Amino acid sequence: MLQLIKGFKDILPEEARVWRHIESTAAGIFADFGFSEIRPPVMEKAALFQKSIGEHTDIVEKEMYTFADRTGDMITLRPEATASVVRAYIQHKLYAGDPVQKLFTIGPMFRRERPQKGRYRQFHQINAEALGISAPYIDAQLILMLMTLLDRLLINDANLHLNSLGCRECRPDFKSALVGFLKSKQSALCADCVRRMDRNPLRVLDCKVEGCRNATADAPAMTDFLCNDCRDHFNAVIALLDGLGLAYDIDKRMVRGLDYYTRTTFEVQTGKLGAQSAIAGGGRYDELVNMLGGPDQPAIGFAIGLERLAEIVAQEEAVPATGGVDLFIAALGEKSREKAFAWMCELNKSGFCAEMAFEDRSLKSQMKMANRLSAAHALIVGDAELESGQAQLRNMATKDQQEIAISNLAETIKQMLNNNK
Ligand code: HAM
Repeated sequence: MLQLIKGFKDILPEEARVWRHIESTAAGIFADFGFSEIRPPVMEKAALFQKSIGEHTDIVEKEMYTFADRTGDMITLRPEATASVVRAYIQHKLYAGDPVQKLFTIGPMFRRERPQKGRYRQFHQINAEALGISAPYIDAQLILMLMTLLDRLLINDANLHLNSLGCRECRPDFKSALVGFLKSKQSALCADCVRRMDRNPLRVLDCKVEGCRNATADAPAMTDFLCNDCRDHFNAVIALLDGLGLAYDIDKRMVRGLDYYTRTTFEVQTGKLGAQSAIAGGGRYDELVNMLGGPDQPAIGFAIGLERLAEIVAQEEAVPATGGVDLFIAALGEKSREKAFAWMCELNKSGFCAEMAFEDRSLKSQMKMANRLSAAHALIVGDAELESGQAQLRNMATKDQQEIAISNLAETIKQMLNNNK
């Protein structure tokens, strides 16, 4: 039998219910915070991600699904959404009237990582991006929006980690201090990190190899090298978060896995997921819009991993029960089935969930079906009922049964269900 691709995942109905709950909760909260939806495509030119995420990141070096299409253009299945949102902002001149754009998008991303629990090759993100604002207020508002969503979804152990990665003014000093430090620890670093040391030294701080983590425990921290503007910005963000009553840990090692970040960066971790503990990550990317050919506009955003979030939300049983079946029509004989079909369709069209057995089944098996579907009511109709003009309506919870006239039945049922709402 053909199976799905390794690292890919079917979202089965029970999970999809959780996903829909998360997505609609997010869309509602994001609207309250002034964010509009944008839907970029899942494929882009490879160069977009190489330029924005950075040539010497794991994503670009090892994880992208990049291939030549039939004309030889190099195409990539997007590993993240930020670059696409920025491309759309520039391409459609969304900045023309007002540079401020608060956008969100939900959809699949693709990274050819080693699959494990919580880590997939196709995964989904809820992204929010605020472009055109440099004031620290937006950093705080965006983080508040993320934490409000997690709170609304009853995630009670979300830990916010915060850092600043400075800007093009102050980062070079930090980088050279870091390279000096790493050179002194070279013998303890893995081969990848020795290579990264010259090309992209910040990535060494992100290495998961135990030896590298130990060797870099006392590495210089970016926060000690911030220029005055970056320091003021970081302090202002912290003061605003304090004012909002949001708890956070300053995490000086956190460099994030993508190269476009500047200033504020953050991640949200939880203890409920095992090794893949990051449910969300984000930060400022003040230089990216300009770097991709757009105006000099700052930006900040985050992405939540939907698979990871859904796993916790399902554990918390925080998803409200869905409506369920309003009426199950148990029909006996072909004539009754024809009637049942017409009533069912009429109710379905009018916004009620009605179900029936499509094939010939015994009454017992149809009642079992009604129970399995948790139907609120069952209507029983056979030749005798057609003859007498009265069907039996059973309230499945109380087991009360009443007669109901077959003529105009769909209307009577609609009225009854409406009254029960
Ligand atoms: P990221 O940290 O690479 O950031 O991904 C954000 C979240 O996506 C992670 O915290 C995790 O929950 C989820 N995630 C990442 N990779 C996988 C995977 N292979 N399987 C399952 N879940 C995964 C970004 O992607 C940035 N674009 C975020 C951002 C938006 N920064 C600014 N704006």
